[in-house]
Amino acid sequence: MRAIVAAAPDWGIGDGKGMLYSIPGDLKYFREQTKGHTVIMGRKTLESLPGGRVLPKRRNIILSRDRKLKVPGAYVCHSVGELLSLLEALDEKDAFVIGGGEIYQKLLPYCESALVTQVEQAPPIQPSVFFPDLEEAGWHLTKKSAPQEENGLTYTFTEWKP
Ligand SMILES: NC(=O)c1ccc[n+]([C@@H]2O[C@H](COP(=O)([O-])OP(=O)(O)OC[C@H]3O[C@@H](n4cnc5c(N)ncnc54)[C@H](OP(=O)(O)O)[C@@H]3O)[C@@H](O)[C@H]2O)c1
Repeated sequence: MRAIVAAAPDWGIGDGKGMLYSIPGDLKYFREQTKGHTVIMGRKTLESLPGGRVLPKRRNIILSRDRKLKVPGAYVCHSVGELLSLLEALDEKDAFVIGGGEIYQKLLPYCESALVTQVEQAPPIQPSVFFPDLEEAGWHLTKKSAPQEENGLTYTFTEWKP
């Protein structure tokens, strides 16, 4: 399992409703990385997507404790245990964890790497949802792209491993 996230310098990732930055280059990178793969997300992140709909061209798995929740075009799992059983049944070893804060926190122990788009500037919106601080967690930076400039923002595509 791998996590993929765009984070502010303080590891902020959202305000509870949406993301902190609008970066077309990062959305393109996210699409390229996850296309054709399985993506795992929390129910709140699903609701934050356009139209509250699943991501096309990917196998979508939603985590929710709501046993009545049905999501067209997606599997719904009601616990981490149920998710792990589903991944095993599907023989899926390279799924992407795509958020949000609660789901990253719970699934990071199962991730062998994290793709983090690190934005240098503080976000225009105050974050209330955070990715775990990977330095504090003892993870190591294993790859870092050249800085990208867009919409007045500077960001790098990085990879971290435990
Ligand atoms: N910057 C980025 O890359 C990025 C990526 C994704 C999301 N985000 C942002 O993150 C924010 C959303 O994150 P969030 O932490 O509020 O919510 P979230 O992690 O997307 O979803 C939380 C929900 O997941 C379900 N859940 C959590 N643990 C579970 C478990 N063990 N078993 C079953 N279901 C479980 C629950 O759904 P129920 O309430 O239905 O039970 C819970 O309310 C938004 O602002 C979004 O824009 C940012």
